[in-house]
Amino acid sequence: MTLLAAKFMFIVQKQTQAIDCMSGMRGKFITFEGGEGTGKSTQAAMLALRLEALGLAVQLTREPGGSLGAEIIRHVLLSGAAKPFGAEAEAMLFAAARDDHVRCTILPALEAGKWVICDRFIDSTRVYQGILGKVDEQLIKRLERVSIGDLAPNLTLVLDVPVELGLDRVKQRRGEAAPDRFEAEDAEYHEKLREAFLTIAQSEPERCAVIGAGGAKEDVARQIWEVVNTRLDPKAARPVVEHAVS
Ligand code: TYD
Repeated sequence: MTLLAAKFMFIVQKQTQAIDCMSGMRGKFITFEGGEGTGKSTQAAMLALRLEALGLAVQLTREPGGSLGAEIIRHVLLSGAAKPFGAEAEAMLFAAARDDHVRCTILPALEAGKWVICDRFIDSTRVYQGILGKVDEQLIKRLERVSIGDLAPNLTLVLDVPVELGLDRVKQRRGEAAPDRFEAEDAEYHEKLREAFLTIAQSEPERCAVIGAGGAKEDVARQIWEVVNTRLDPKAARPVVEHAVS
């Protein structure tokens, strides 16, 4: 089999997996996106608890990472070890990590009827590597196709805070530790990140919702819960009995 044929087979397989898991008892897929210090991880965990309280089975996960192979790649990326190879190489590594994460964690969970909540996903690659890293849009699209096939989030929550506040939060969270590969970029970079996430949200309003995340975490969680209820109606979802939290 030629390399091209193998790649084609691979894409077909991914699409079939995605289509299979969309039929029947499929959970919902929610992603959190936004710049640094927007509170994604906190809000993702709070949302998971609320959904579990309804008796729904939830898989909370993150990128880069979320599966054994992807966590190894995460270390390479966030340590900055891949930075000298350029944004294109980094984009390929993020895609490789995503491929493993989708195959090993996300699709099996959705197929089992779980609600998957993922801290960062495709929009982060579009923004960090595509818009900020200037990696060719066609390459970003091709990598996306290969790594996720037809799997698209049902809802993407874009958390938005003023850059200064976000960077302050990151500094406090980090304490004495050194900033990671992306935290270390300057304020102008983070301003562009913010704008890029907002642009994506505007261009895909059916999938995305922007959440003003500068306030208290309980207020932000309330806004998120309202959007999730309106768009995905979790109260009407069938609980997965064997994983239900009492
Ligand atoms: P992480 O420690 O998970 O922090 P947070 O998500 O709270 O910012 O860092 C992940 C970093 O990786 C973050 O700076 C964004 C970056 N990233 C990309 O550049 N591209 C991607 O596709 C993903 C998923 C993340």
